[in-house]
Amino acid sequence: MTAASAPGKVILFGEHAVVSGFPALGGAIDLRARAKVLDCPGKLLIETEGLFVSGFSLDLLSGQVLCRQASHAARYVSAVLREFDASDLSIRIESSIPPASGLGSSAAITVACLAAVSRHLGHDLPAKEVAALSHRIEKTVQNGLGSPMDTALATFGGYLRVCRQVEPLALPPLQMVVGDTGKPHDTRQQVAGVQALKERYPDLVNPIFQAIGAISSRAAGLIEEQNLSELGALMNANHGLLEALGVGSRELSELVYAARNSGALGAKITGAGGGGCMIALPGPGNGKALIAAMRQARGRAFPAVAGCEGVRMEADT
Ligand code: MEV
Repeated sequence: MTAASAPGKVILFGEHAVVSGFPALGGAIDLRARAKVLDCPGKLLIETEGLFVSGFSLDLLSGQVLCRQASHAARYVSAVLREFDASDLSIRIESSIPPASGLGSSAAITVACLAAVSRHLGHDLPAKEVAALSHRIEKTVQNGLGSPMDTALATFGGYLRVCRQVEPLALPPLQMVVGDTGKPHDTRQQVAGVQALKERYPDLVNPIFQAIGAISSRAAGLIEEQNLSELGALMNANHGLLEALGVGSRELSELVYAARNSGALGAKITGAGGGGCMIALPGPGNGKALIAAMRQARGRAFPAVAGCEGVRMEADT
C-alpha cells in the first residue's frame, strides 16, 4: 500500500490579471485530496469516497462507471495511470475539497495520485518533476487549459507568487473563511470574457490589470507583517476591480457583503468568478460569526488556513 495527499488552494490576489502576465498570489489550504494505491492483480480499479464526491467504483478494463459526478475525478486519475502505463492496481481517492469551485480539487487529486502511483511503482520523483508532470496531465485533461499555480501549490504547498514564473514565498499561515456559492462556474468562459473585454478596451482593462498586479505585489509584505487590516482593505479593492472586469455575480456579492457586514476585514472573489468561491479575512475572534452570516446568505462556508503543507506521503490509516 502506498498513500499520498495534496492540498487544495485559494488565489489570494491577482486572478485574471495573471493571465496577461501580471503577478498573482496563491496559498495552499488545509483541505486535502488523498490517493491510496494497492496491488490488485488482473484489475485497474479507481474508487472514490469523500465528503464532496459520492462513492463510486470504476473498472478501467471493463469501462464500468457507476456515478457520473465522480467520473470527473476519474479522468485525472486515469490520465496519471496512463502516464505510468500502470495495471494491476487499485486507486482509492478521498477528497474534502469541493470539486469545480476554483479550490484546486483536480490539481490536488492529480498530484496526490501521481505521488502515490509513482512511489508505488518504485520511482522517486523530485517535487519539481511531480509539479511539472501533474501540470501537463491536468492541462491535457482540461483540453489545454490550466495555470501552473494549482499543481505547483498542491505539490509545494505554502504560498506562490505567479508572474510568468512560479516563485515560492516564505510567509506565515493565514486564517480565512471560504464561501462556496454552489453555483457552477466555467473558468474558460470567464477568462475568455475578460480577455475579450481587454481586446475591446485595452486602455481601460490594462490599468485594471496593473492595479491588480500592484495589489498582489504589496500583499506578501502585509501577510509577512501580519497587517491584517490593510490586507483586508486590499482584498476589498481587488474584489472591486474583479467586479469591473465583469466576473462578479449576485451569489458572490451576497457572500462578500454578508462577510463584510459581520466584521470581515476584507472579502473577495477567489478564482475565475461568475460562480464558485469567495474568501473572507476574519477579524479577531469573529470567524464563527462570518460563517453563520455567510450560511444565512445561502453559501457553504468553512474555515480554511492558507499557507499549508504540500504533497506528502501518508501512513496507512
Ligand atoms: C482561475 O482559477 C484563475 C484565473 O486567473 C485563470 C488562470 O490563472 O488560469 C482566472
